[in-house]
Amino acid sequence: MKNRLTTAQEKIRQNLDFKNRITGMISHEIRSPLSIIGLYSKKARANVKDEELKETFKSIEFTTNSLLLLSNQILEYSKEDTHQLVLKCKKVHLKDELNHILSSMSSLAEAKGNQLQIESNLKSDSVVYTDVAKIHQLFYNIIGNANKFTDKGWIKVALDFKPISGFENNLAVIISDNGVGISENDLKNIFESYYQGTVSEKVTNLGVGLGLNICKEIVELFDGEITVTSEQGKGTHVTFNLILTQV
Ligand SMILES: Nc1ncnc2c1ncn2[C@@H]1O[C@H](COP(=O)(O)OP(=O)(O)OP(=O)(O)O)[C@@H](O)[C@H]1O
Ligand SMILES: [Mg+2]
Repeated sequence: MKNRLTTAQEKIRQNLDFKNRITGMISHEIRSPLSIIGLYSKKARANVKDEELKETFKSIEFTTNSLLLLSNQILEYSKEDTHQLVLKCKKVHLKDELNHILSSMSSLAEAKGNQLQIESNLKSDSVVYTDVAKIHQLFYNIIGNANKFTDKGWIKVALDFKPISGFENNLAVIISDNGVGISENDLKNIFESYYQGTVSEKVTNLGVGLGLNICKEIVELFDGEITVTSEQGKGTHVTFNLILTQV
């Protein structure tokens, strides 16, 4: 009996090791083609005169960089034994970073006939010590959702950055849309992993219902809270806040 148990445990460990090795390998190998796309885009940007085209290339570089951050994250997690989500912080110019994220999301919204409107009180000298990859994930997921469930409408992003003590700031974010909205019953479950609402059957949704679950986990790492309010047929508001350390 004991022998069978040990063999089964050994098998599970081997399977996990194999999975970890594969995720590690993929995230590692994906970095070279991504860097190459970034380099080509930089080269092309240097050679074009058209300002609009230059901006497009900048967004390509930013988005590939975002993917690089993400694959680095996967790589780090596949190496770690604890498998716990933790913040990996560095010095970040918050205004620049968020501007970049929002401008690349703006192109995505335009492609679906949606308009991204931004309201922000962030100043150029707002420098914080934070995990930039996780901030990317939050905005990509939530604006991505707003865009997925809205057609020819608007998506509003409101950013409010305020000091709460000598060394901490609160970043309050509201992302609203005037899309299909969420039914009361779905609203109760949307933070569950793999939960997708009933509307998801009507729109082309390649997702799996993990986005908001991941966002909740990330927001809690920042000692913040996330809530969703919505009215069917009218639209959705996602509100969250992050506590950020001042540099
Ligand atoms: N802005 C929104 N408007 C309407 N419904 C939304 C919105 N955001 C989330 N939802 C609903 O909540 C569900 C869960 O969202 P979540 O981001 O977790 O999953 P997903 O977008 O379906 O898949 P994934 O994020 O894994 O790509 C969605 O399937 C959708 O029904
Ligand atoms: Mg999603």
